[in-house]
Amino acid sequence: MTKNIAVLVSGGGTNLQALLDAQARSELVNGRITAVLSSSPEAYALERAKKAGVAAYVLPQNRLDTRSLMVELVDLLHRLDIHLVVMAGFMTIVTEELFQAYPNAVINVHPSLIPSFCGKGCYGLHVHEKALAYGVKVSGATVHFVTEECDAGPIILQKAVEVLPGDTPEVLQRRIMEQCEWKLLPQAVSLFCQGRLQVKGRIVRILDPVEK
Ligand code: GAR
Repeated sequence: MTKNIAVLVSGGGTNLQALLDAQARSELVNGRITAVLSSSPEAYALERAKKAGVAAYVLPQNRLDTRSLMVELVDLLHRLDIHLVVMAGFMTIVTEELFQAYPNAVINVHPSLIPSFCGKGCYGLHVHEKALAYGVKVSGATVHFVTEECDAGPIILQKAVEVLPGDTPEVLQRRIMEQCEWKLLPQAVSLFCQGRLQVKGRIVRILDPVEK
């Protein structure tokens, strides 16, 4: 059965674009992006969804506390018959209402090698500022399942790149997006949709196509 995918976004949506492009190349095996949900009406990601002909929704603003927002979000996801929720630059911290409704079925992309440079307040460009200030020689991206602890769920895929002399946060961000995030996220989504991710505690095993 094809899995319906919802992508949660807040900004530019380059990771959403990587998913849409992978879908156009038939690389999201057994999966279909059926909805894009944005925390902001201004997010350019909404344009990308529109261009690709995918239904786009803007989540309610401000008038709701995070928990009530999550209840509304889960309600919408159920109504849309979503099987996999992908957080692609979604800047709202999600609460248990979401991952309890979708156990091991919410995944997030984070622009560092978790457990470095992650957790509350560590998002977007801040991640790369912190990595450069610390002086690490490699950084990268992580795709992981979302659990109650921020950025601490079971790791699905990781990829590293070198940090080069003279890197600015923007330059490092771009290298990590191009070489890591835009590749890993579609791969992880495709593996999920093929039923090839087996989770035991913190450990995710990637099954061979014949094993599942
Ligand atoms: C991406 O680098 C993503 O990994 C990061 O925000 C950026 C969103 O870009 N997410 C986080 O930092 C989450 N903790 P995009 O809107 O162009 O995909």
